[in-house]
Amino acid sequence: MAAPERRQRGGVSSAILLFSAFSSCFSLFSGRDAFKRKLLVEMNPGSSSPPPDFDLLHVRAVGDNDTLHFLFCSQGAPTLLLVHTNTTASTVAVNWTRFEDRNHSGGLQVEPESSILHSTAVIFSRLLEYDDANNTAEPQTDFFPAYDLQDVSWSRLNLSGPNALLCGAVANGSFCLQLSVFETEGRGQALPRLLHTANSSQLNVRLDGVLPRSSHSRFLLELQAVGGAYPPSRVEAHRSIDDEFTPTIFKVSLWVPSENSSSDVLGFLQWKPVAYRQPASALEDATPCRNSAPLPQSGEAVKAASGLVRAFYTQPEAFGLNVSFGLAGEPFYNSTGFLSWTALLGSGLPPVDSISPLVLSMMVFGLGTPTLLLLMGGIYVAVRKRPVTVAYEPVS
Ligand SMILES: *[C@@H]1O[C@H](CO)[C@@H](O)[C@H](O)[C@H]1NC(C)=O
Ligand SMILES: *[C@@H]1O[C@H](CO)[C@@H](O)[C@H](O)[C@H]1NC(C)=O
Ligand SMILES: *[C@@H]1O[C@H](CO)[C@@H](O)[C@H](O)[C@H]1NC(C)=O
Ligand SMILES: *[C@@H]1O[C@H](CO)[C@@H](O)[C@H](O)[C@H]1NC(C)=O
Ligand SMILES: *[C@@H]1O[C@H](CO)[C@@H](O)[C@H](O)[C@H]1NC(C)=O
Ligand SMILES: *[C@@H]1O[C@H](CO)[C@@H](O)[C@H](O)[C@H]1NC(C)=O
Ligand SMILES: *[C@@H]1O[C@H](CO)[C@@H](O)[C@H](O)[C@H]1NC(C)=O
Ligand SMILES: *[C@@H]1O[C@H](CO)[C@@H](O)[C@H](O)[C@H]1NC(C)=O
Ligand SMILES: *[C@@H]1O[C@H](CO)[C@@H](O)[C@H](O)[C@H]1NC(C)=O
Ligand SMILES: *[C@@H]1O[C@H](CO)[C@@H](O)[C@H](O)[C@H]1NC(C)=O
Ligand SMILES: *[C@@H]1O[C@H](CO)[C@@H](O)[C@H](O)[C@H]1NC(C)=O
Repeated sequence: MAAPERRQRGGVSSAILLFSAFSSCFSLFSGRDAFKRKLLVEMNPGSSSPPPDFDLLHVRAVGDNDTLHFLFCSQGAPTLLLVHTNTTASTVAVNWTRFEDRNHSGGLQVEPESSILHSTAVIFSRLLEYDDANNTAEPQTDFFPAYDLQDVSWSRLNLSGPNALLCGAVANGSFCLQLSVFETEGRGQALPRLLHTANSSQLNVRLDGVLPRSSHSRFLLELQAVGGAYPPSRVEAHRSIDDEFTPTIFKVSLWVPSENSSSDVLGFLQWKPVAYRQPASALEDATPCRNSAPLPQSGEAVKAASGLVRAFYTQPEAFGLNVSFGLAGEPFYNSTGFLSWTALLGSGLPPVDSISPLVLSMMVFGLGTPTLLLLMGGIYVAVRKRPVTVAYEPVS
């Protein structure tokens, strides 16, 4: 009998048609907001010769009516500063004598000052290590002396396009920061494959081959978030869907200014609470991470730690927190001697994962096909059961 086979084919081709119609609908829908920025990269803007012991990278990300200035600097503790202006014509002016003098602010200005909508900086201030002899992953007392990242001697910035790599030697290993700035929205190549927009930059931290001071060592990374009037002061944990890109991670952490800040166009830090124990990270190398509650920091301390913060802010407001890697029972740092963690620093609305087109199409395909087959089958049977004569009724 040919009937069941024909019925099957009809169902499948309809489902495929639906699948492709759905996919193209979705790409139309998501392509609607293909917002693009023009990126202009300059190293040590306005200096005749590179400064002797640090670099200052400036990426101008120019939109239709605004500019995001990304400034990344290795004078003292590594710092990324994001300044959002309401014009495409704003510029960065560096007074190099002032900037290099470690006792002055005002070495870097974004002009015109009246165009500045907001600014946010993140400082990678310290790397902390503790002996987790009881495997509780509750860092309390058994801390080793911290690695103060402002004392690390940093490499020159290794630039490739709008991406920069900064490395420093820490305990016979390396502490590296990879900055990526984006023209348009997309997704990171490596896990956790964070979604980014043209309004956010990505920072990947790698702790490679650091000699642990105990065989049960775990690490924490201390971050400081700096702002003018509204520094990021609270961390929100948002639910995230278990998408195909970061499987098994159901949360996104968002470090934002307090609720009573008036403007909605402000800076944010965003990350998924997961780190990876291998460079070519795979799902099984994932290790959860947690953050402490942000605490107010002294403006003088952040100015002392970061050359860029000192140069740009006269009265910085700052909050600090620790990101700790690993949970009780998880392998210690010595298991692989590697950790990788990724975060975004951006402006405006943070990117939100949605169910991906692939997963959605598969859901439609998976749930839709049996329904369609039943429907098609029903119609087929109904058509076959109708008397043949009906189709050839004389027109007269
Ligand atoms: C940019 O400015 C133009 C005209 O000045 C305006 O039409 C447009 O809506 C603005 N775009 C944005 C994204 O604000
Ligand atoms: C740069 O800073 C130095 C030291 O504060 C100051 O003397 C000099 O006038 C400044 N240069 C410019 C061009 O503003
Ligand atoms: C730094 O500046 C302050 C006042 O601005 C001054 O008291 C202090 O001596 C200076 N330190 C150095 C090392 O120049
Ligand atoms: C934005 O642009 C307008 C017009 O160019 C200017 O008057 C205003 O001060 C700017 N700054 C802010 C923060 O809106
Ligand atoms: C580890 O456990 C032992 C015994 O329970 C306890 O005496 C010790 O204080 C614990 N050490 C830490 C660092 O918690
Ligand atoms: C710079 O980075 C590229 C890849 O990003 C790498 O191949 C190259 O070796 C690096 N150069 C230095 C001097 O580290
Ligand atoms: C770190 O490296 C230096 C030189 O490469 C070596 O002399 C030293 O023994 C190393 N330290 C440890 C603890 O292995
Ligand atoms: C990025 O910023 C521009 C200008 O403020 C805005 O028009 C656009 O919607 C933003 N894109 C996202 C994804 O937030
Ligand atoms: C925000 O509101 C809280 C109380 O609602 C207040 O204590 C705090 O000072 C406010 N902060 C700012 C920056 O206005
Ligand atoms: C990070 O942890 C260390 C060790 O517990 C602590 O001394 C430091 O104050 C913490 N930093 C912040 C910003 O909470
Ligand atoms: C890490 O340290 C633990 C505890 O001493 C030990 O059992 C384990 O073999 C070490 N792992 C590696 C890879 O050295």
